[in-house]
Amino acid sequence: GLGSINIPVYVHVIYSNSQENISDAQIQSQIDILNADFNLTNNDASLTPAEFTDVLADADINFTLAGVTRKASSRTEWGTRDEMKFASNGGVDVVTPESALNIWVCNIGGGILGYAQFPGGDPSTDGVVVGPQFFGDTGYLSAPFDKGRTTTHEVGHYLNLRHIWGDGRCKQDDFVADTPSSDGPNYGCPSYPTVNCRSNDMTMNYMDYVNDECMYMFSEGQKARMRALFAAGGARESI
Ligand code: ARG
Ligand code: ZN
Ligand code: CA
Repeated sequence: GLGSINIPVYVHVIYSNSQENISDAQIQSQIDILNADFNLTNNDASLTPAEFTDVLADADINFTLAGVTRKASSRTEWGTRDEMKFASNGGVDVVTPESALNIWVCNIGGGILGYAQFPGGDPSTDGVVVGPQFFGDTGYLSAPFDKGRTTTHEVGHYLNLRHIWGDGRCKQDDFVADTPSSDGPNYGCPSYPTVNCRSNDMTMNYMDYVNDECMYMFSEGQKARMRALFAAGGARESI
């Protein structure tokens, strides 16, 4: 296999008040959570139901903080049209998207926690966007999305993962064989088993919509889909 994959991370904090100008400690807490979740060192992985332990995956992907940009702005909501990704629009330009993950931390608005660009898109908008109060697990936070899993979920998309229900009904695939079929997102903290489409949902997967403390796993199929991006000729590269 490829061995460990290493991804430098640039964090761009764009703030309209001092709370949104999150601390270095809050930023580092999110890097630590990414490393735990993508290396199966998250403590809550032990909660995985027996039915799914054989597909519980250590993706073996490492994240290193490469730089932090801070920018004050009078804008209080940024939406989902990538304006925060351009200095010409009052945002911050992307840094080396060929090899680095860019994360813009700014208030999106509209109740949106975060959003991501899938691999293969325009390099100038490559990366993920997360609201400051959903980033990391120390500092300015909003429960129940205060354990850093919004960024884990969005980095899943950045690494080509779909939502586990495939954004459609039972027959709509997420292109991952070992995530059971489902017909829609789960919310809150579902009890096990939650049955849809004649199988138990993997509600605890990072690519569902449950609360941060109730999502704690990627599957082996998801791991393979993510890591395939880093093979020769793939859409992303490791350093
Ligand atoms: N893009 C999704 C949203 O903004 C992110 C959901 C993340 N879920 C979570 N439990 N943190 O709705
Ligand atoms: Zn999503
Ligand atoms: Ca599936």
